[in-house]
Formats: sequence, C-alpha cells, structure tokens
Amino acid sequence: MQVHTNVSLKDFNTFGLDAKALYYAELQSTEQLHDFRKQKEWRDFPLLVLGGGSNLLFTEDFRGFVLRIATKGIEVVKETADSVYVKAMAGEGWENFVEYCVAQNWGGIENLTLIPGNLGTSPMQNIGAYGVELKDTFHSLEAWEIETGAIHTFYKADCRFGYRESVFKMEAKNKYIILSVCFRLTKNNHQILTGYGAVKEQLQLMGIESPGIKDVMTAIQHIRRTKLPDPKKLGNAGSFFKNPVIDEKKYQELSREFVAIPSWKTEAGGVKIPAAWLIERAGWKGYREGDAGVHQQQALVLVNYGKATGEEILSLSGKIQASVAELFGVHLEPEVNIAGKS
Ligand code: EPU
Repeated sequence: MQVHTNVSLKDFNTFGLDAKALYYAELQSTEQLHDFRKQKEWRDFPLLVLGGGSNLLFTEDFRGFVLRIATKGIEVVKETADSVYVKAMAGEGWENFVEYCVAQNWGGIENLTLIPGNLGTSPMQNIGAYGVELKDTFHSLEAWEIETGAIHTFYKADCRFGYRESVFKMEAKNKYIILSVCFRLTKNNHQILTGYGAVKEQLQLMGIESPGIKDVMTAIQHIRRTKLPDPKKLGNAGSFFKNPVIDEKKYQELSREFVAIPSWKTEAGGVKIPAAWLIERAGWKGYREGDAGVHQQQALVLVNYGKATGEEILSLSGKIQASVAELFGVHLEPEVNIAGKS
C-alpha cells in the first residue's frame, strides 16, 4: 500500500472542495488491510474512510489519514427459485451496481438509481428515494473492525436502520470499515413501486402502461436528471438536510398558519415535512452567495458553483437553519457529514 502526503481531495468529494489530506492511501483489495495495519500514521492521526465522497463537506484540510476504498467486484453468492443474493465490494459505484442488477433482471433497487456514491457507504445512511430504502433489499454486510482487525458480519437487525440512519452513524461510528454488502433481489414477480412523486406520470409520458424494473429505472433517471444537479457539472452532495419529523401538536400548529404545508405520517407516529418546502418558503431557493448556493430546482440541495469553500457552504447552511427555525420553529439537521468541524 502506497501512502502519499498532502493529496488534494478535490476529485474525491462531489462538492468538488479542494481540501488536502495529510496522508492518503487507497485500498484496492481486502488483503491490503494487513498492510494498512502496519502503517503507523493512521494510529497517530485521525482516520477518515472515504467512499464516493458524495455525502461529505470538508470545511478545512484533513490533518489525518484518508483511506479511500477502491475495491471492486460483484458476485452471486446464493440463488433460490425467486431470489438472488448478490454481494458486491464496497468500492463499487452504487449506480454501476444498480444498472448491473437491472440488466440481469434482478429487482428491488431500481428506484435507487442515480444516487451518487459508493456501494460500501450506502448502508451507513440507509440511502432512499422514490419510496424505497436500502434496508428493503439489504441482507448483510462484512465490516473490518479497525481496533482489532477482525471481520464481522452485520445482518439487517444489527444495522438498526432508520430514516437516513444506521448503527454506523451511532455506536459503530468510525469503528468499522465496510468491506462488502450483500443484497437479496428478486428474479421474477418484481415489486414495481411507482406510487411516489411523479414516477407514475413520467411512465405515462413515456407511454408505458405495465412497467418493468428497467422502465421504472429509466423514468426515475429522467426525473432525477431534471431536478437534481449532476455533481460532475455542479458540485453538490444531494440533500443537505434530512426531512424533519415533528410531533402531531407542532404539525397542527404549523398547518393552521401554513395551510399548504405538505406532510407524511411516519410509522412512529410523527409527521415528516419536506425540508425543501420549508427552505423554499423561507425564500432561499435559487439563492447564491459567492459560489455557494441553493439549487434552483431543488431547495434541499446546496451547490458549489465552482470556487466555494466548505466554510462558505457551511455558513450558508447555518443561515438557512436559522431562518427556518425562526419562521417555522423547526430544526433542520444536516444529512451530510461535516468533516473538520470540531
Ligand atoms: N419541495 C419544495 N421545493 C423544492 C423541492 C421540493 O417545496 O424545491 C417540496 C414539494 O412539496 C415536494 C416535496 O418537497 O413534493 C418533496 O420533494 P422531493 O420529492 O423532491 O423529495 P425530498 O423530500 O426533497 C427526498 C430525499 C432525496 C430523494 C427524494 C426522492 C431526503 C433528505 N431526501 O427528497 O434524497 O431523492 O426524496 O425520493 O430524504 C439525498 O438523500 O441526497 C436525496 C437526494
């Protein structure tokens, strides 16, 4: 394993921020973890395990060891009449994996098309879109315990998945490196989920009456491309905040004052409201301050028009939080991981 010093991470985070890593190495194979254990720099400095860098905001240089996971490979580990268990290495691109599975006619993750990032980080925040969450098809993952070097298997219950949550954002945070993830997908009788947002309308526009998984993927790709900025063209990390969940009493209060407020009941008895709506109503949609801005088509996405620093994006996010709190009395929690903020 080659360890480099003072490496720019600009190409390794989708905000395109030019933060530097004091030490930087890439993990090409699981075997290289033995090598990694022998490097002493990561024991003396903070360690940052980097996947696709699609959910990360660097507010300053990272004065530690960045280990970028670059392992590849997809394999079928088990098959039954109806299901296939597919295991993929953590460094696979998520979209590459989705398209590979859809091409094999394996169903269950087609609604999660075009989510940026790597497969290995997808369980950390239980990625979700268009009525589907990663947990719905997740079977298990293998993770390397940093302290001991032991490999552990985590099954679904061990991961404690929630809305953009998992054990890897709680007790297990910074303790494991996810090596591979195994999904259970359908081989036939696919569950076609078109109920969320504009998916049904888009399929109608495409002239498709009884869609298959490939049609659903194509429709969602079309919707996402029109609403969400492509990180290759405009730096961003998808949704910057989570959609807040408030209690019924607070919701009643808000809906008296703001009649049009959209909402969904959660299983736990709360009410989820779209952060994008709150941000738009507070007047931030399309706002720009230097090169940091709020996307014109989706108010939940903060963008880097080119030369914004992480600090500037963080400062803009703070202003949005303050204004939403003042206007609606609702706290917006960042969904993006902020590196460098102590
Ligand atoms: N809305 C606005 N203004 C906007 C955009 C949306 O008022 O600029 C309102 C509309 O009422 C709309 C509602 O917000 O109906 C929901 O919007 P949308 O369907 O675009 O979804 P979202 O709640 O803003 C979530 C995920 C996205 C995911 C979409 C689609 C979170 C934090 N975000 O966004 O995930 O793609 O649903 O399923 O849950 C991500 O995590 O990075 C991400 C992009």
